Amino acid sequence: MRIGITYTILRREELEIKERAGDFGEVFMLHEDDMVFPSNLDLDVVIIRNVGHFKALYLARLFESEGIPVVNPFTVMLEAGDKLLATLRLKDRVPVPDWRAGVSEKASEKAVEELGYPVVLKPVFGSWGRLLAKVNDRDALEAVLEHRKWLRNPLYGIHYVQKFVEKPGRDIRSYVIGGEFVTAIYRYSEHWITNTARGGKAEPCYDEEVRELSLRAWEAFGEGALAIDIFEGSEGLLVNEVNPNMEFKNAARVTGVDIAKKLVEYALEVAKA
Ligand SMILES: Nc1ncnc2c1ncn2[C@@H]1O[C@H](COP(=O)(O)OP(=O)(O)O)[C@@H](O)[C@H]1O
Ligand SMILES: [Mg+2]
Repeated sequence: MRIGITYTILRREELEIKERAGDFGEVFMLHEDDMVFPSNLDLDVVIIRNVGHFKALYLARLFESEGIPVVNPFTVMLEAGDKLLATLRLKDRVPVPDWRAGVSEKASEKAVEELGYPVVLKPVFGSWGRLLAKVNDRDALEAVLEHRKWLRNPLYGIHYVQKFVEKPGRDIRSYVIGGEFVTAIYRYSEHWITNTARGGKAEPCYDEEVRELSLRAWEAFGEGALAIDIFEGSEGLLVNEVNPNMEFKNAARVTGVDIAKKLVEYALEVAKA
């Protein structure tokens, strides 16, 4: 088995994946500076681990075009990696935070009026809580929309708005790989943005309802490895987003679950027969 692992920098996750993959075959570490397509790489499967959604997305498609299966597949990266497209997949299968979308500033203002303050404006792509804005009133909304306009990235003109969900000082991150529930953690933070990448504290979560909901969220995509963000809303659990380019070092540490191994085992399943 010839397993490729693409990367931007070697984080703990990539080192663990490399080590686990070594138990199953020959491992090829592929730095993004060294890959040019069309390539002449002879690989059975590639695990994509680049930092940056669009790099991962395009690499997935490039490898697929050469007949090499990837984790995650391009379509999963595309739709799970876009908060709005993911919501469209999820909304009929699992409860999601109340949301609106529009493609102009005016539409965005109307969307916010419909939802009522406070709302969270978030770019359709991105992670680590970047450019997330909790907006409590009209003045703040105008300020955020004005800043977005001058950011000049056309994707910032696609407006995705969620109702702000009052959480109990924590939220949940779960992992589903190849249709198998792997593990979940609570992320505690004093700040309303709880990402552990921003210093949120993690603890294991063994809630059966979380497990069931996570599996249903995964089924909205039907393949791949997904990290799922879940809120405990006042009327029950809500799926906030799904991440196709998962970070897991904190979850693996506090749960003792070998997430890297699960990812590698899944890659072997999707590898060329
Ligand atoms: N609608 C919301 N209500 C309350 N908290 C939110 C809401 N949206 C996001 N958050 C908080 O911000 C964090 C980051 O938002 P998220 O949508 O997961 O984007 P990212 O891709 O940056 O992780 C969430 O984990 C949660 O703690
Ligand atoms: Mg998130």
